[in-house]
Parts: sequence; structure tokens; C-alpha cells
Amino acid sequence: MPFYHKLGKIPHKRHTVFKKPDGSLYYEQLFGTIGFDGMYTNMYHEQRPTQVKEIKGSYDASPKIAAEKNIQSYRFKGFQVKPEKDYLKSRKVVLTNSDVDIALAAPKESTKDYFYKNADSDELLFIHKGSGKLRTHLGNLDFKYGDYLLIPRGTIYKLDFDSEENRLFIVESRRPIYTPKRYRNYFGQLLEHSPFCERDIRRPHELETNDESGEFLIKIKKQGRIFDMVYASHPFDVVGYDGYNYPYAFSIHDFEPITGRIHQPPPVHQTFETDAFVVCSFVPRLYDYHPESIPAPYNHSNIDSDEVLYYVDGDFMSRNDIEAGHISLHPAGIPHGPHPGAVERSIGKTETEELAVMVDTFKPLMVTEDAMDITDGKYYKSWLDH
Ligand SMILES: [Fe+2]
Repeated sequence: MPFYHKLGKIPHKRHTVFKKPDGSLYYEQLFGTIGFDGMYTNMYHEQRPTQVKEIKGSYDASPKIAAEKNIQSYRFKGFQVKPEKDYLKSRKVVLTNSDVDIALAAPKESTKDYFYKNADSDELLFIHKGSGKLRTHLGNLDFKYGDYLLIPRGTIYKLDFDSEENRLFIVESRRPIYTPKRYRNYFGQLLEHSPFCERDIRRPHELETNDESGEFLIKIKKQGRIFDMVYASHPFDVVGYDGYNYPYAFSIHDFEPITGRIHQPPPVHQTFETDAFVVCSFVPRLYDYHPESIPAPYNHSNIDSDEVLYYVDGDFMSRNDIEAGHISLHPAGIPHGPHPGAVERSIGKTETEELAVMVDTFKPLMVTEDAMDITDGKYYKSWLDH
């Protein structure tokens, strides 16, 4: 995140002697991105973070592809994904390409027996149902319905859930996820016309420092495989850090919609950017106020991007037969638009309660076997007048 954050205790100067009460040294680690050119954090451990005891094995976690090349629009019924006890096993990738995995998860239990680290990707977790605490080696974040949790690659984490009723929409990005550049000034500060600002971004607030030795399993995702690595020191043993690279939370309910006299295009809803896809938030808002405006969107062609909409809550004005938890895929190359009747229905309406997350990818998405399990395959004909 492009603003400075400090938690715990750190020495006056970086790369200098920093002593524990017993006179021995803390162990400094630079946690950086884009080689040494990106955002970074300097943290201080009780023990060396390099003490690998054993690599117990690995397994392939890459999704099984059902449709590699696709031109069909789909609707996936996300709540049909079955709840599973384990967090990692509960994650089902539905759409994928070389830049991004889009997954659904309904984990019932908190991560207890292991820590998790994604070495390939930044993870964006959208909390549709459930609440709890994201625990990381850089501090903890409380989460609830409507939160985006941005977890930079390399962050070691656990999820503590308050109950068994959890539904997550997950975007796993091989490209770094940032806030949109056009909303930031030369210095990185969010500008006045940005739909959210630094005040809306919640930073880690509790630092757990466990100076323990033993056997600590970290499941590390790298190149699509999960490696079980056993470390000799507790992964959450940081006494302090400062810098720009850390997990944060942002609530979709804090996104301030941009509206106009006539229909505003999707970029006004943009919340995050990468160089491979964008993420937008559609939130409750007043409709267009030109006396003859049509609030429903016009037909449009995604000639060079696949459009994924995850429907969260409210009434989805432009679609018929869409419910919370559904995902629509409108692939590049063909036009899509409001369902029959939706344009007429929208005229004269003054506001919408819709809540949805959109991911537009610049490369085509492949449809996975897990996605085929939750679709009837008929959605592509839903624009016909019957
Ligand atoms: Fe669209």
C-alpha cells in the first residue's frame, strides 16, 4: 500500500544494531517487491526467519480446465459451492488465466494446524458472508461482510472465523494489485476525486510476537503447487516493522459512488488495478438524473476483456434471474447488455441498492471443472425474447 505504516518497536536507523533485553540481536528482514524497486517493509524477528527444518512434500493446486478457449457467456451459482472445513481445500477456482485465478470458498473452520503463504500471487479476499480476524506476521486485521482484504504476496497468514457460515470471493493475482494510478498524485496520495481515501484503508493493528521454537508448518504456494515446509521458529515472531508493504482492509461500503446526469461507464466504479485486470465495486447509489436518462447500461462489446461480475446483494437491475452469490462471465469478442425488459424497467428509477464486485481481465479466462459443476450452461441464451 503506498503509504507509510509502523507497528511495534524498531531501531532508530535501519540496518543497525538492535538489541533484545538480554543483549542479543533481533534479526532484520527486508520484505520487498519488484526486486528492490517496489514497495517494501523492514521487519525485526525474534529468531532467524530462514530456519527450514524439513520440506515434507508438495501437491498440485492448479485448477482443472474444462473450457480452455471460450466464447460462451456463463452464469455460475456461487452458493452451490459446498462448504468445507479446511480453508485451503475450500478454495475452488472457477475462472483462470496466466495472470489471475478467480475462486470461491466456503470455509467452515479457522486455519489451526498450519500457516499459509502465497509466494506466487497477491490475494484479494472479498468477504461476502462471515466475520473474524486475519492474522499475519505483520499484524492482524478484523474483517466482516463487505470487506476487501488485500494480502500482498509473501504474507504469512491465518484466518480466524467467528462462525461456520463463511463465503469468500477470491482474486489471486500474479501481478501486483494497487489502487488506481489516476486517483493518486505524484507522491502516491489518493486525490480528492478518488472514491475512497487513506482514511478508509484499515492497516494491521495488533502485532503478535511469539518467541517460540519447535515445528511450524507453513503451506507455501509456489508455481501452482503447495509445499509443506516446516520451520524451527514461530512465523509470527516480529517485534516491529515499518514500510509500505503490508496487508490492509477496505470495505466496499466505504466506496463513494461517482454518479452523473447520464449513465457513467464502468471505470467510475474502479477500486483496484493491475496491469492484467481491474476490480470494480458497484454500490448502492443514486441513478442518472437527466430527465430522459436510461439508468440501465447500454449494450457493450468487451472486445479485449473478459468481464466477471460477482453479485453480492440488492436487486440487480440489468439482469433477470440473478441472485446473490451468482457470477456472470461475459467473454471478450461478443456484445452483452441488459436482459429483455431491463432497459424499460429502469426508466424513471431514482436509485439502486445493487452491490457487486467486477473483475475485468485483459486476457481471456478459462472455465474450470469446478465452475461447470455450478452452472446449467443455459445463460448464454438469456437475451432471447421468449
Ligand atoms: Fe458489462
